[in-house]
Amino acid sequence: MAGGFVSQTPGVRNYNYKLTPKVFVTCFIGAFGGLIFGYDLGISGGVTSMEPFLEEFFPYVYKKMKNAHENEYCRFDSQLLTLFTSSLYVAALISSLFASTITRVFGRKWSMFLGGFTFFVGSAFNGFAQNIAMLLIGRILLGFGVGFANQSVPVYLSEMAPPNLRGAFNNGFQVAIIFGIVVATIINYFTAQMKGNIGWRISLGLACVPSVMIMIGALILPDTPNSLIERGYTEEAKQMLQSIRGTTEVEEEFQDLVDASEESKQVKHPWKNILLPRYRPQLIMTCFIPFFQQLTGINVITFYAPVLFQTLGFGSKASLLSAMVTGIIELLCTFVSVFTVDRFGRRILFLQGGIQMLISQIAIGAMIGVKFGVAGTGNIGKADANLIVALICIYVAGFAWSWGPLGWLVPSEISPLEIRSAAQAINVAVNMFFTFLVAQLFLTMLCHMKFGLFFFFAFFVFIMTIFIYMMLPETKNVPIEEMNRVWKAHWFWGRFIPDEAVGKGVAEMQQKSV
Ligand code: BGC
Repeated sequence: MAGGFVSQTPGVRNYNYKLTPKVFVTCFIGAFGGLIFGYDLGISGGVTSMEPFLEEFFPYVYKKMKNAHENEYCRFDSQLLTLFTSSLYVAALISSLFASTITRVFGRKWSMFLGGFTFFVGSAFNGFAQNIAMLLIGRILLGFGVGFANQSVPVYLSEMAPPNLRGAFNNGFQVAIIFGIVVATIINYFTAQMKGNIGWRISLGLACVPSVMIMIGALILPDTPNSLIERGYTEEAKQMLQSIRGTTEVEEEFQDLVDASEESKQVKHPWKNILLPRYRPQLIMTCFIPFFQQLTGINVITFYAPVLFQTLGFGSKASLLSAMVTGIIELLCTFVSVFTVDRFGRRILFLQGGIQMLISQIAIGAMIGVKFGVAGTGNIGKADANLIVALICIYVAGFAWSWGPLGWLVPSEISPLEIRSAAQAINVAVNMFFTFLVAQLFLTMLCHMKFGLFFFFAFFVFIMTIFIYMMLPETKNVPIEEMNRVWKAHWFWGRFIPDEAVGKGVAEMQQKSV
């Protein structure tokens, strides 16, 4: 069988490090970066379904929502309302591109700090918003924060982690994202019951808490050995490596990092270089993985679960409660990935999760189609509505141990140092762009495509599952600076990787992999 389908790449070194308290604590704090993203993802949907908020800023949507005879699919369709949610992602897209330079030149931690800081200012704008302009400026600042954090944190975690535990550590980012989402939905549940404008102000203003956490965290975190070497602090890098690996025997890994850094120094313009044929696999993956992650349709649930549940006929309190339940399920199921990703690998989780999402989406689309039909009128019974919620939970569980965490892990671990920051910036930018598109278009798509929307996403889940099967080699346990060997051994990507990029043993690997 072709090389891409085998799970272990011949010729790849395997350092078997133990978990040290230092690396655990460092990565725990580093993962805080996911909190700001998660808090925001979770808070927007609930806030946009709060009546005082709609009445204050979006009176037109408010009136329409109150009109009980409206077509169910179109109740919430408003470009301005979705702009509130989606503007953040455009800002995040832009800032992630700048963040890559800061991450490379000043180290990973300063990007994280800046992320926390802009997020903090944004939360103040939103909490005290008097008009739409303040609301949108706040959202844009939050977006800058998210862009910086998402660009730097996954790379930070992947570089700090021992190679044999990299998947679990990097998944900490996703755990923090979902934790942020769950906390946000719980807060929304309570603030939604408050009278007047105070509820949504508390929801939006409390974003300052995770931002302070990441700012403090970034100040006390050490930089990664990879980044220290990249910036010329070779001795410090060695000491850092010894202290996070808990042994003085780090020669081999250290040498790999130094070699990688030497090679990366030849590359003056990471942005131009990433277009070279030898980086084609990384370029394609860093574009397609985030694209596919968003085309799973997950953010329809993340942003609009309360709205979706209201569409299904739930009251507004029950809708927020159901959103909370899906969030908690997502959080718990993310741990399945944390505990299995380094043992069973990335591919199996991607494939199993994909199939589970595909089946549940088709079932959800079919049920909504049967109940609401094309006209979007009709009533759904309690039992059927509960069944749809259960199907949504199965779908969310599938995402939680596949595309959710792996959508951040894989792009952060597949690129050589010389293009890593640029590649991660592309990953974030593409992710944010499609997050924006889904957030912006979902309500309109629901209004026009109706239940067919779920089949639309199911179609993409089918395509992405095949894509992973054919194109993604297994990267578990492979030291990050040895990743070129994995690409070289792949049945398709191998042709793009020059022999000198992988050193000795190439011929032997190629022989074994065809
Ligand atoms: C995705 C987000 C999503 C979140 C929670 C993340 O991995 O990038 O778009 O909202 O998971 O489901």
